[in-house]
Amino acid sequence: MAATRGEFSSRFGFIMAAAGSAVGLGNIWGFPTQAASNGGGAFLLVYLVLAFCLAYPALMAELIIGRHAHSNAVQALQLISRGPISKFIGGATGIAGLIVASFILSFYAIVSGWMMAFCINAALTFLDMGESAAWLVEFSLTRNLIFMCLFMLMTIGIISQGVQGGIERWSGRLMPMLIIMLVILVMYVLTLEGAMEGLKVYLLPDFGRVMSPSLIIAALGSAFFSLSLGVGTMLIYGSYLKDEENLPLVGGYVTLVDIGIAVMAGFLIIPAMYVAQHNGIQIFNEAGALISEDTLIFTVLPNLFNTMGTTGLLVSFAFFFLMTIAAVTSSISMLEVPVAYTIENHGAERQKAVWIIGGVITAISATIIFNFEMLFGLVIELTTRYSQPLLALLLCVFVGWIWNREGLLQELKKGNKDVESTFFWKIWPWYVRLVCPLIIGVIFVNSLWG
Ligand code: TRP
Repeated sequence: MAATRGEFSSRFGFIMAAAGSAVGLGNIWGFPTQAASNGGGAFLLVYLVLAFCLAYPALMAELIIGRHAHSNAVQALQLISRGPISKFIGGATGIAGLIVASFILSFYAIVSGWMMAFCINAALTFLDMGESAAWLVEFSLTRNLIFMCLFMLMTIGIISQGVQGGIERWSGRLMPMLIIMLVILVMYVLTLEGAMEGLKVYLLPDFGRVMSPSLIIAALGSAFFSLSLGVGTMLIYGSYLKDEENLPLVGGYVTLVDIGIAVMAGFLIIPAMYVAQHNGIQIFNEAGALISEDTLIFTVLPNLFNTMGTTGLLVSFAFFFLMTIAAVTSSISMLEVPVAYTIENHGAERQKAVWIIGGVITAISATIIFNFEMLFGLVIELTTRYSQPLLALLLCVFVGWIWNREGLLQELKKGNKDVESTFFWKIWPWYVRLVCPLIIGVIFVNSLWG
């Protein structure tokens, strides 16, 4: 089977793909809006600490298991287990991961569809066809359904082309484009009147809030979602890595790109809010808190773009195009999880697996759209707030307690002969064994009461 498996052709290809998975709506929408509603700089600070100290070690756990097994999470977790009980739990964890990944994609595709609709709206308005395009930015069943399906088709199209021809090729094209566009947008927004006030809010932490449990829970959730942890996404990408690759290093690059882009998106979104305020747009709600989440992206920012005339249309197009790119390189990584399992465990052909699973996820997504009020928030909460941290915790337990230390070391040595003498090897095994499960557990239990 090993000969027929896909593999990333280069280190650059892997980093773009894994960073593409990590960088998504979570970074460009989630992180800045969470920061906006959780005290700006205070959130940034906690986020940085948690991302390096917890999310990076957990990412490494996934990459190492995946690369060692060169297979999907279900097989991989069974492979590193010794007894029948841990084998069973391993298989179940893998299956749970692929189900959660599918549900995450089902809501992600809806939001991504909105981004596409807003992007097309800006283009049409620019071409003076704004009247006919108005429905694109109005919340309706038809619009939601059409754009969710379009987005799913794009995702399915890329994944059907396989690891190198699909994932690696598209991530390698889209990620550099995303970074360039983001930098240009940030530079532009920072020149506008009012931006400096936003910058202050973003960069000066209110230390009084740093220890607030709700802030810590939000920051951890944000970091885990952002690095695509728990559901086997990074595990499967790791499984397509060559044995010669130095894992702690490439994992570090991916983490840096992910965090870097989240932080940079903060430089775009938070100053933009204060520019909007400067232009007379309301950015605080009745309770006195900064407007965040969907109202921010789909109301405050479009209102801001409207006050900027023709330039605003360009900026709006660029912004929503950026969002769409970020979303596609993430959604493909979610779809790859159940697809790889179906190919490897059930002998399915890629094309067939992609279309069937893509179809099922589209149907789930449509069900959410038809019952939006009831299901949308619920699915997000169940997957990202509860399932993801719990699964990430289980993966750390597998690496820290079930897999033997020698096996772990041998795997790391494949790409770095001297790994034994590195800081990473001295700290990390204990870290995933004790610190990660403990802290994730404590924060998780806390969030149950939250
Ligand atoms: N990390 C992506 C983002 O920030 C989303 C994502 C991709 C994801 N794959 C995932 C989230 C797997 C959770 C699990 O938007």
